[in-house]
Amino acid sequence: MRVLGIESSCDESAAAVVDSRAGLLGQALHSQVDLHRRYGGVVPELASRDHVRRLLPLVREVLEASGTAPEELGGIAYTAGPGLVGALLTGAALAQALALGWRLPVLGVHHLEGHLLAPLLEAEVPPFPHLALLVSGGHTMLIDVRRIGEYHLLGETRDDAAGEAFDKVAKLLGLPYPGGPELARLATQGQPGRFHFPRPMRDRPGLEFSFSGLKTAVMLAVRERELTPAVKADVARGVEDAIVETLCAKALRALEFTGHEALVVAGGVGANQSLRAQLTAAARARGARVYYPRPEFCTDNAAMIALAGLVRLSAGECSPRTVRVRARWSIAELAPPGKAAS
Ligand code: KG4
Ligand code: ZN
Repeated sequence: MRVLGIESSCDESAAAVVDSRAGLLGQALHSQVDLHRRYGGVVPELASRDHVRRLLPLVREVLEASGTAPEELGGIAYTAGPGLVGALLTGAALAQALALGWRLPVLGVHHLEGHLLAPLLEAEVPPFPHLALLVSGGHTMLIDVRRIGEYHLLGETRDDAAGEAFDKVAKLLGLPYPGGPELARLATQGQPGRFHFPRPMRDRPGLEFSFSGLKTAVMLAVRERELTPAVKADVARGVEDAIVETLCAKALRALEFTGHEALVVAGGVGANQSLRAQLTAAARARGARVYYPRPEFCTDNAAMIALAGLVRLSAGECSPRTVRVRARWSIAELAPPGKAAS
């Protein structure tokens, strides 16, 4: 089966084609970063309008690049949530319209399941069951992935997500939008230990996170200090170290708790090189292995949506022919492919 995937949950418009035998056949993405930069964050209305402009040409592009005629498709998958409602609606409406015109089944996919399944697009596929650390701009979660569609939430953040913490501190330091990757880049030039920030909840039992205190700690540390390039780099390093160390400590604790020997890291913050290096080393020391999607499949993309759609459409699932999306949607509500009441 061959599936067209459409992603529009936030500020990335994307389309991709995945085939059950040949794997990923093509993907195209337009990032709206330039559009939102001057506002310092995503403006939902602008995001929706831009998706409307971008999505159809992206769909045409991936179909052409992958040599796929509409009649060769077995279905269309789109991100149905969680995300910005207006943005989600643009992708849902397009997917539903194309599916109606081409007489194809259509399926609304959970964005976070897309992130969790992204490592399956790589050559080395993680075994099931495994532990997943899902770290994005909106979520920080440790999930016991028993099998596809069976997700047990072990712990999540009580306040800000890890990516949000990266972004907020970057804004405080006056770094250009989007802040997370910029802060990470600057951290490579900073000296470790010059600024020490709290490792919230690291030493408490349990698998929960809390990152909202970091922004205040940084604000206090840089108060009455000239923000020279060197100070900014040292602060960036201190913040990255605090976030990475906390994520590593809790991920290792969750590995011990579940007894799993494989850890999947997914979501935008999974592109962070320091996190990747430290998790890999720490897991190896305990005989566990870490699986990552390639960095461009850590952040939002349509390949992961096409794949999640393929898995479920080929098990016979499909959504009704109505444009329905969900701003909030717990991943624990999902069921294994073919068993869902969608
Ligand atoms: O998964 P994603 O693309 O979108 C959401 O679903 O949220 O994640 C975006 C988040 C942003 O907060 C961004 O700053 C962060 O991932 N991010 C990074 C890096 N690349 C993206 N954070 C730290 N280091 C990076 N290299
Ligand atoms: Zn995402």
